Amino acid sequence: MKHTTYHKQSIQKQLDVYTKTVDDYELLNAHLITVINQLRKTKKSFTSNVKAWHTFPHLQTETKEFDRLINICLDFIYEINEKEFHLPKEDIQYECVNLWAMKYSKGEYALKHNHHPADWSMVYYIDVVSDQSPIVFEDVNVVYPKSGDLIMFNGMIDHDVPPTTNERIAVSMNFMHTGAP
Ligand SMILES: [Fe+2]
Repeated sequence: MKHTTYHKQSIQKQLDVYTKTVDDYELLNAHLITVINQLRKTKKSFTSNVKAWHTFPHLQTETKEFDRLINICLDFIYEINEKEFHLPKEDIQYECVNLWAMKYSKGEYALKHNHHPADWSMVYYIDVVSDQSPIVFEDVNVVYPKSGDLIMFNGMIDHDVPPTTNERIAVSMNFMHTGAP
């Protein structure tokens, strides 16, 4: 690859993190806990910035068990695109390109990282007790998730999880747009 000279000019822009609690999450979570505990019996942990057990990042290609969750995430993307960016669903669609399940044990954590070049990233919390570590965005924005919470953010935003005090089960996903613009 030919390397060229380029210049970089930093600009500041506010990026937002969106959080909602999924309707009727209890049944969904009970199902996903069973699925993930089963996966833990057969899948060795993948290695990444997440220093806890987690699957390889393309689990959506291997099982349909997360399809309902993916559809909930897609609805959230279309809602935010419409309300915040005036982009109707008919004009731009998305697909889930990465999905990985995680189970943190006491003391486990995630190093600061981002999901660039994903258009939208999501974390869905399946089993979280109240006195757990938060997820921290750009070192300053602290979110304490509850079970059933879905967090959506631009893939460029850095985030980390300090060592947690309890078990925590979550799923992370990345979405890319498939059509214009
Ligand atoms: Fe992440």
